Amino acid sequence: MTLTVERDGRIAVVTVDNPPVNALSQALRQALWDAVAELDADADVDAVVLICAGRTFIAGADVSEFGKPPQPPHLPDVVARIEAAAKPWTAAIHGSALGGGFEVALGCRFRVAVASASVGLPEVTLGIVPGAGGTVRLPRLVPVAAAIDLVTSGKPVKAPKALELGLIDAVIDGDLRAGAVAFAAEARALPAPISERSPSPVDADFWEPAEARVRKAARGAAAPLRALASIRNATEADFDAAMAFERETFLELRASPEAAALRQVFFSERAAPRPAALKGVEPKPLRSVAVIGGGTMGAGIVAALRDAKIPVVLVERDAEALARGLANVTGIFEGAVKRGRMSEADAAARIAGVTGETDYAALADIDLVIEAVFEEISVKRAVFEALGTACRPDAILATNTSYLDPRDIAEGVPGPERFIGLHFFSPANVMKLLEIVPTPETSPETLATGFALAAKLGKIPVQAGICDGFIGNRILKRYRAAAEDLVRRGASIADIDLAMRRFGFAMGPFEAQDLGGLDIAFLQREGARGRGETVPETLGDVLVRAGRKGQKTSGGWYDYTAGDRAPKPSETVSALLAPSISTGELPKDIASHLVGEMAAEGELILAEGIAGRPEDIDLVEIHGYGFPRRKGGPMHFAAATRSTEPA
Ligand code: 3HC
Ligand code: NAI
Repeated sequence: MTLTVERDGRIAVVTVDNPPVNALSQALRQALWDAVAELDADADVDAVVLICAGRTFIAGADVSEFGKPPQPPHLPDVVARIEAAAKPWTAAIHGSALGGGFEVALGCRFRVAVASASVGLPEVTLGIVPGAGGTVRLPRLVPVAAAIDLVTSGKPVKAPKALELGLIDAVIDGDLRAGAVAFAAEARALPAPISERSPSPVDADFWEPAEARVRKAARGAAAPLRALASIRNATEADFDAAMAFERETFLELRASPEAAALRQVFFSERAAPRPAALKGVEPKPLRSVAVIGGGTMGAGIVAALRDAKIPVVLVERDAEALARGLANVTGIFEGAVKRGRMSEADAAARIAGVTGETDYAALADIDLVIEAVFEEISVKRAVFEALGTACRPDAILATNTSYLDPRDIAEGVPGPERFIGLHFFSPANVMKLLEIVPTPETSPETLATGFALAAKLGKIPVQAGICDGFIGNRILKRYRAAAEDLVRRGASIADIDLAMRRFGFAMGPFEAQDLGGLDIAFLQREGARGRGETVPETLGDVLVRAGRKGQKTSGGWYDYTAGDRAPKPSETVSALLAPSISTGELPKDIASHLVGEMAAEGELILAEGIAGRPEDIDLVEIHGYGFPRRKGGPMHFAAATRSTEPA
């Protein structure tokens, strides 16, 4: 960590250089503290610019210090010291001013930023509230509603929007340092420190609906509501009392299991893209990609590639299927326009970058092919045979298979080192997970290219070994079987779903199956039975055989009335399943039991080397299967539960 002070006329420029993201370590806090004293004492300095080296302004407190007792100088004191400095400080922001970084900027009298910068208070995403005055100064700077949005969503805003909201004072065109020095040197009235301003006024009936909104969006997470309480307190108590209240909340939440889980996920997500085994391995170029099959997954994969501006060739089996596939892709982008998520021009540009083909000759110079045709080995094999002839010998060939063994799919295709499984999740342009499945013959370059693709697409990559269902679907199978087992032992379907929703899933296992369709897993089991494998009859099989495939047939585990997606407990289902149900002992806590089953499967997956780290399994569940992030994933949850159980 270095903090340098230079002079530009009568302006001092304080440059923080604490790679990678200028986080506020104890050393940096101390250096900032000392810099205020030094510059206050310097008669040749009129004002100070605080700027950062590297990719970003101060990105926040050093999260890696959160497990340890806080060391002085504490951040709220550092911010107060900057705010009380005799010479006015101007924060010059590029990259992101987040959390404690933005709180430091709020301690400065002025804030300027380049247009590409963002500012925000993402603490709630780490299970905490701002701890250095964010909830206290913000409602003294901007309207309370804006402060609530920023703090309880945790979402940063870009500089132009920040200027509009009053979070910053100017957007700098051109060189930030020069612009900030010029800004600091200009004669202008000095605003009162934010701590000395009154909170923005609110009506008496403001808080109830605000709390209802935050509670709904928080979906069971503690931090957003605690942040709201801190903002409310900041509008009612005096500044010092409000700071003390915020700090107490911050320290309490920092030590909570939710914050520990979210911190672990934060670091796992950042470690996932860089497996140690690939250090120094260069990925191959990804200038053009082909997708074979434009159904549910293929169209989503095309959209994900186009979002990353990669040109795509979409191949279908005939002209009619191609027209459908292209319409699927167009539909995704038109939907985004309708929901206000994309401009028409952006959608048109994305669509224009897709070329439809039915002839494999179009793939002669493609860098990567991703196959997403029917989950049927003979169909996939025929596709790979054609690819083996049509593509360059060094083109990477990938399959999106859910369950088939990638080695069987590519058997006999020349160049097994370029073959890999790339398992996307539906909808592929939305879901963040990418399971990367090398075969024993996959080369390090091919594997590295899979990770490079994930990075380009903004996905979280997790390497998985070959087994039935890889990591995620294998755990899903165990989870569903365990949930069915509870039904067999007399638990109600609705109680199980409710328990999982209360745990934090958007849906319980049975509602989720009704939404996705029970027939997919049924057909897969039937296929295995057809191949002579022993697959015990599931309760789901009983329902599908009775024509209950889920919402699409107006009934699965639940009944549905037309036009209404609300599940209703079904007497028909009770009657169909009655012969399979006995009464047995049920776990006291259904959710912990089912998550424990997931973790037990995860342990097997680790023991077999299918996953490299428990954190990877957690990322799979969080980003592919809706496991609540604040519980850290099944492996983290099971380990944390074990460690707090009485011996
Ligand atoms: N503390 C410690 N390490 C951090 C960190 C932080 N706040 N933020 C990022 N890092 C580390 C990452 O772990 C990663 O380390 P690695 O290279 O060893 O894996 C490295 O910095 C680079 O991070 P990214 O890969 O995320 O870099 P990007 O350039 O993609 O993104 C960023 C930069 C937008 C700043 C992003 O890192 C980010 O969002 N960071 C977290 C910001 C945050 O949550 N701040 C609030 C912290 S809580 C707080 O401030 C409390 C206060 O109110 C008292
Ligand atoms: P789908 O049935 O929606 O689409 C398959 C597409 O492949 C169809 O458009 C079909 O016309 C096309 N196709 C079939 N044979 C072809 C051929 N020889 N050449 C070119 N195109 C051909 O299926 P879906 O759901 O998109 O699944 C595709 C693959 O993705 C399967 O392997 C599946 O297991 C896997 N997968 C599916 C997920 C899902 O949630 N649907 C999730 C992850 C993987």
